[in-house]
Amino acid sequence: MELNLPNPPSFPFAALSDVEPQPFMPPADDARADAYLAMIRRYIGGAADIDRPTQSATARTAPITADDCAERLADADRVFAQWLAPLRRPAAEAAGIEPARMADALNHMHHESRRLTMCHDVLLDNVVELARVVIDERVPGDFIETGVWRGGVTILMRAALTAFGDLGRSVWVADSFAGLPAPDPATDLRDAIWHHLMRAVGLLRSDLAAVREAFARAGLLDRRVRFLPGWFADTLPEAPIARLALMRLDGDWYESTRVALDALYPRLSPGGFVIVDDYGLPTGCARAVDEYRAAHRIDAPLTRINAQAVYWRKPW
Ligand SMILES: C[S@@+](CC[C@H](N)C(=O)[O-])C[C@H]1O[C@@H](n2cnc3c(N)ncnc32)[C@H](O)[C@@H]1O
Repeated sequence: MELNLPNPPSFPFAALSDVEPQPFMPPADDARADAYLAMIRRYIGGAADIDRPTQSATARTAPITADDCAERLADADRVFAQWLAPLRRPAAEAAGIEPARMADALNHMHHESRRLTMCHDVLLDNVVELARVVIDERVPGDFIETGVWRGGVTILMRAALTAFGDLGRSVWVADSFAGLPAPDPATDLRDAIWHHLMRAVGLLRSDLAAVREAFARAGLLDRRVRFLPGWFADTLPEAPIARLALMRLDGDWYESTRVALDALYPRLSPGGFVIVDDYGLPTGCARAVDEYRAAHRIDAPLTRINAQAVYWRKPW
């Protein structure tokens, strides 16, 4: 059978004009699918290149130092004084971060400016593995990531559909494309302090046109990639998504996680997976997940992917 998978040696990439939906042909074998996904992973990891400035509004060449972070935390002490006072704690303690670790985290987010995802390999392995399970087991529904930044994980999701011979599902790409929203310090002080600190990386602002272009350069921009630009609270409840088989939440904050669960978990098929990227972060994400699971009596076990991310499977 004639294949439609790009050959790894011919990578990179499709010409930008070459973005018409492509006829799908399944991969011949696992080795070909693996080679194709490995190539896509090199691309989203920033190894294969794009010789043009990246879309980052956050690009900056000098690394952020622990001293920069100490200064920002001192500034947060002033900005959030009214909410910190009753707690008798400095911003660093309230946000669960100290300058050196904060510098590491922020540098990871902005410094590798060629990357299309900030996710480490183990998280990308997990996306591919769970995509494969739902395709093999015919769990019905589309894939979504809420919080895509430069789009890398959603590019990998779309590539997995091709690699594993799926003919019908779509990938939903949900982001403000305007960066992280500002949490209310009265209800989400931790997230509000983190938001203040994340100004150092442009609040992770990304650009819809650049994400579309990143799909196109991999030959993966077709009708099965659906964009949901805007704040989750505005886009997710009304999104024309019937069923989901794989939902990946990566919106960092309490509110962003809670809105996504409220809007999307009811549409997750039994046997589908929900991945929560930020469960181990010192933001409000874990509280949103724990509250939602308790309120809906979800006792499916949480599986840890790494120190930060978890997933669970919706029971049949
Ligand atoms: C940590 S980044 C996502 C990283 C990405 N998944 C990757 O693979 O690198 C968080 C993203 O969530 C988006 N975001 C967070 N809360 C949001 C909300 N309430 N509405 C829309 N976008 C949101 C931000 O714009 C940002 O792009």
